[in-house]
Amino acid sequence: MAAGTQLTNPFEDPLRYERRVPEATVVIFGANGDLTRRKLMPALYRLALERRLSAGFAVLGISRTPMTDEQFREKMRQSVERFLENSPFDAQVWDGFAKGLFYLPGDVHDPAAYQRLSQRLEAIEQARNMAGNVLFYLSTQPSQYATVAQGLSQAGLANGRGWRRLVVEKPFGHDGASARELDRSLHAVFAEPEIYRIDHYLGKETVQNILAFRFGNGIFEPLWNRRYVNHVQITAAESIGVEGRGAFYQETGALRDMIQNHLLQVLATVGMEPSATYDAQAVRDERAKLLRCIRILKPEEVEQDAVAGQYGPARIGGTEVPGFRQEPGVDPASRTDTYAAATFFIENWRWAGVPFYIRTGKRLPKRVTEIAIRFQPAPHVPFEGQAPEAPPDLLVLRIQPDEGISLKFASKQPGPGMRLRPVSMDFNYGTSFGERTPSAYETLLLDAIQGDATLYTRQDMVEASWRVVQPILEVWENRKFDFPNYPAGAWGPEAADRMLARRGHEWRRP
Ligand code: BG6
Repeated sequence: MAAGTQLTNPFEDPLRYERRVPEATVVIFGANGDLTRRKLMPALYRLALERRLSAGFAVLGISRTPMTDEQFREKMRQSVERFLENSPFDAQVWDGFAKGLFYLPGDVHDPAAYQRLSQRLEAIEQARNMAGNVLFYLSTQPSQYATVAQGLSQAGLANGRGWRRLVVEKPFGHDGASARELDRSLHAVFAEPEIYRIDHYLGKETVQNILAFRFGNGIFEPLWNRRYVNHVQITAAESIGVEGRGAFYQETGALRDMIQNHLLQVLATVGMEPSATYDAQAVRDERAKLLRCIRILKPEEVEQDAVAGQYGPARIGGTEVPGFRQEPGVDPASRTDTYAAATFFIENWRWAGVPFYIRTGKRLPKRVTEIAIRFQPAPHVPFEGQAPEAPPDLLVLRIQPDEGISLKFASKQPGPGMRLRPVSMDFNYGTSFGERTPSAYETLLLDAIQGDATLYTRQDMVEASWRVVQPILEVWENRKFDFPNYPAGAWGPEAADRMLARRGHEWRRP
């Protein structure tokens, strides 16, 4: 290669360095917490590495722990070095980025903390010559969201010279009623367009790609309906257990933790109608419409069309794995679901009668999130005795890991006669684009600072999702479960297989 010649990636975004975010201060409540360390800081640092942040960009962390700016910077540096994925740590970039990191010890229940926050913000903005834009990020206990919003309002921080936005982490309520209550508290201070409810699944590249796949191509959409689709399976399996979050998880369970938010958003993305434009209102309107079309299970249907599971102890690969009830912080008689599956029907012209099966669980055999779309079998196979046992027409959108898309279909096996075998056509992100994929938090933080809410959920979507899961939760609350009902490392309880078998289907083994 000639000196000075650089290999260029044909897929690289030529405008990437133009897309710098406007000057802003990100104020993180809960700055000493897990999310800040594992996700937010590595994502912000990545944005700095990509030169997406403007010169004045600042982060002000708040939490109860006493720390100086210097101690906070050191702590964040260690976290970024530890949790940064797919990128080298660049000390020089870090030093520049760290100059914009600040810390303020404060208790969210103390009104004086908000006064100090106000003064600190002003000092930072003046010193860095900033325009006064502030993104408040709530990464605290959900029970503190309303308190923080009120504190900000009372200190006059909800309005200012520049824009003010509020990013809220899930869970948005524990049920429909508490979600509405939370919404009232937030709306007392911020207008809906200023509230960014984060669902990190929507920020995943592969979830965004579902829309590119469906609406950027002409060939798939004509098949994307009840005439050609037999059923859909959405799986989010995790091999990890509750990882030190036993106390939180015990109050939450799989249905609330994954289905109410992430997986119903994925379902909405798979099922929604095309939006005429790609902007926050149009896309979210379509997602919300789809969520409202999901048929609500009647209490007597929950028994057959929803399945709860909880893992018990097992020996996996020579290691003893504790059951959920043996995890720290968990009640030894806990009735919490660590596995949840449900069958949903979408009542509209496109999808009437097509089952959408959803499942998620902890301590399943592997980590895999995918959407499998099973097409109708060929109406007549003319090759005698050769109809494959399991009809292969299957489209798999792999959300993670091994991000990609596979289309499986029947093919003639070479040799005499007509023998059919399933084969696969594969697209793989890694090999096709050769570029590092941004993390969901990188995408979503960038969007919030730019004022783009397309990939954030909206209050009506949150309420529509609670409407879907609430009847299941209510039945489960009063039901006796024979827990544990699957050993750690298995694909969930047998009842989940029966749920599909009723309609002549079976779960795919990803
Ligand atoms: C979180 C849940 O929202 O999503 C966790 O609270 C879960 O329990 C996580 O592990 C899964 O996210 P991802 O991106 O690893 O699939």
